[in-house]
Amino acid sequence: TDIIHVATECTPFFKTGGLADVIGSLPQALDMPEGAVTVILPKHRNLSEEWIQQLNWIHSLSVWVKWRQQTCQVYELTHQKVRYLFLENDYYFNRPSLYGDHDDGERYAFFCHAILEWVQHMKQKPSIIHCHDWQTSLIPAYIRAKSWDSQIKTVVTIHNLAYQGQFPPSVFKELLHFDDQAYPIIEMDDHVNYLKAGIAEADRITTVSPSYSNEIQQPEFGYKLDSLLRQRSADLTGIVNGIDLIDYNPAQDKELIAPYSSRSLASDINKRSLQVEAGLSMSISTPLFAVVSRLVPEKGIALLIETLNKLLDHERIQVIVLGSGSHELEQALFSLEHRFPKKLSFFHGFDEAKARRIYAGADMLLMPSLFEPCGLSQLISLRYGCVPVVRATGGLKDTIQPFHPHTGTGNGFTFHTMSSGDLRLTIIRAISIFHNKTQWNKLLTNGAATELSWKNSAKLYHIIYDGLRERKGVWNQ
Ligand code: GLC
Repeated sequence: TDIIHVATECTPFFKTGGLADVIGSLPQALDMPEGAVTVILPKHRNLSEEWIQQLNWIHSLSVWVKWRQQTCQVYELTHQKVRYLFLENDYYFNRPSLYGDHDDGERYAFFCHAILEWVQHMKQKPSIIHCHDWQTSLIPAYIRAKSWDSQIKTVVTIHNLAYQGQFPPSVFKELLHFDDQAYPIIEMDDHVNYLKAGIAEADRITTVSPSYSNEIQQPEFGYKLDSLLRQRSADLTGIVNGIDLIDYNPAQDKELIAPYSSRSLASDINKRSLQVEAGLSMSISTPLFAVVSRLVPEKGIALLIETLNKLLDHERIQVIVLGSGSHELEQALFSLEHRFPKKLSFFHGFDEAKARRIYAGADMLLMPSLFEPCGLSQLISLRYGCVPVVRATGGLKDTIQPFHPHTGTGNGFTFHTMSSGDLRLTIIRAISIFHNKTQWNKLLTNGAATELSWKNSAKLYHIIYDGLRERKGVWNQ
């Protein structure tokens, strides 16, 4: 193995968000010989029987979390040329949810310790360990602190800076295996901060879009790590995510009533059946907007609800929302649905098949995010011919260009300020273009021509990896 990716979720095995899609597609997209890329994951409880049957036991590790010794079974599986290792420990990972338990700090410290234990055991060491998000960010700090193997280079990818893995300072002595003098590396604001340790110690840092990599260096989006990120800016790169175009393909999508290669008669069938599924009236000429999102504050759902409350009164539009998350936002959506039963339909929960039918049947996707490291929904949406209406932030800014009726350029609609007025005007502009067939078709054509694959981004990751291989044996600082 040359490159090891370490992460906590990965399609098709287990997913809570976009991270899983990236881990499930980037390693393949690197297009390396079979076995050259390994992905290491925890063996979470919800790994389905279908996959469990394909696992091969390969090793048993003994892993310490300070004074507590645990065994960890290592299982292997190869899928689409990539080798996956699942680390099994029932105490830490045989649980209903991936995150949010009181001992997350311990669970993922264990995961990092187990990965390093595995690497110690490998006869031929990898060149690069590529860590994703805070759960795996202790690894670069350990590698550097212990000089375990200075030949191994590390990359940390930040998928969302808002989640840092912050724990009480006592965690340092109770769980982690650093010497006392390493405390300042891991400390941030009187807390232990796993992501900070990774950002400070990784050889290279990446995040999932160029705009987001600039934004997180500013206090507004830096979550107190902006100054550290500025210090490390020479080693920080923003690389936009791609999507798996074979998995997301409206021409072959089994979930669709009428698969299609471009929006045409077939997509009218999808739109009508979606309207029926959502209990809305069947109408091709009514613009149908969709929201497919985790219902959390950063996705701008509150702003959207405020805006729709005003808009739905007099605009002839329909809205379908799919997602779950904060109780407050869910309740607000239920009452909006109650107020406008003929215009808005809220599907509570997450359902991958339904999401695909929504992308295929809706005309536009609303994404008014407060911030967005990359965002994948707008990419999937373009792939299905559903036009994104987004706030110009982070990855949304990098992937969606505003449509200009005069020049005929652009693949979506964008707005800038986090204000209900701005969002409302943008939706109204989108509605008027929707009713202009020539312009709408131009917009759809532009959307279909947008590069959504991993092709370019995989090259950029290779440039980073190649640069690190050249640095072998020399610390970069
Ligand atoms: C996180 C971000 C999202 C990004 C995804 C994959 O979920 O919030 O913007 O697309 O990670 O990188």
